[in-house]
Amino acid sequence: MKLFELRKQLKTEASQLDIDQVDVDFIVSNVLNVKRTELALVDTITDAQKKQILSAFEKRKQNIPVDNIFQKANFFGYEFKVDDNVLTPRPETEILVETAIKYIKENGYKNVLDLCTGSGCIAISIKKNVDVDITASDISLKALQIAKQNAQSNKAEINFIKSNMFEKIDGKFDIIVSNPPYIETCEIKDLDTEVREHDPILALDGGEMGLKFYNIIHNNLRKHLNDNGMLIMEIGEEQKDMLISLFNDFNYVQCIKDYSGNDRIIVFKK
Ligand SMILES: C[S@@+](CC[C@H](N)C(=O)[O-])C[C@H]1O[C@@H](n2cnc3c(N)ncnc32)[C@H](O)[C@@H]1O
Repeated sequence: MKLFELRKQLKTEASQLDIDQVDVDFIVSNVLNVKRTELALVDTITDAQKKQILSAFEKRKQNIPVDNIFQKANFFGYEFKVDDNVLTPRPETEILVETAIKYIKENGYKNVLDLCTGSGCIAISIKKNVDVDITASDISLKALQIAKQNAQSNKAEINFIKSNMFEKIDGKFDIIVSNPPYIETCEIKDLDTEVREHDPILALDGGEMGLKFYNIIHNNLRKHLNDNGMLIMEIGEEQKDMLISLFNDFNYVQCIKDYSGNDRIIVFKK
């Protein structure tokens, strides 16, 4: 079959079903193992390839996100394995990584703690760009197994620890980064089906007001952050003021907006 005919057919179907047409090309390029930009160069596909493409598109129609269909996601230019045990890395979290790298370089920081590491995307992306010691922790053993595989496939040396927040964390760090669960418990039921059914609830539920994990971080920060050290966290779009008030015994540095113009990454200094 001619590939352009199949792409056209699936994109028409996608737009009728309110599925992003980009997802069709994501599926096709993954099945054919070519870059999206090279799809126009492919003329015909075999029956077996067509079958695989249609089967993946069926899954997409059942609200399974494309990253979960192929169990991989691109983040900060690196490939990460993902499954239902880890949050699929989000583009806005790349801003946290960029910010951390900038401050590590500016201040000559030497060691980093990534709390709530999930797939390991933050820790691994930082380690690939700056020469620092990185400890990364999560309460989920299954998430840590994925994170370890990602560190291996990306050739990044990370010290992984299974820990309920700071419980098993020793010592002090120059910089602590975290994208903790921050969605208000009562809002979980209103999330898109794709998020609710394919990202683990453990990665989303931030308790009352979404502040549970920020409170824990605040209560342990003096003990684990070096003097002149920095805390960089991803936050919910309504949480900036509450967090500035919660961390009022630290120096507020800045809050960076995401690509949709929402407050997303907050920075404090000790
Ligand atoms: C929002 S996800 C962030 C994952 C990854 N850092 C990212 O940015 O894509 C939050 C992570 O926190 C972990 N988590 C939830 N409760 C925790 C706890 N009590 N202690 C440590 N990690 C926890 C979850 O398993 C999940 O991997």
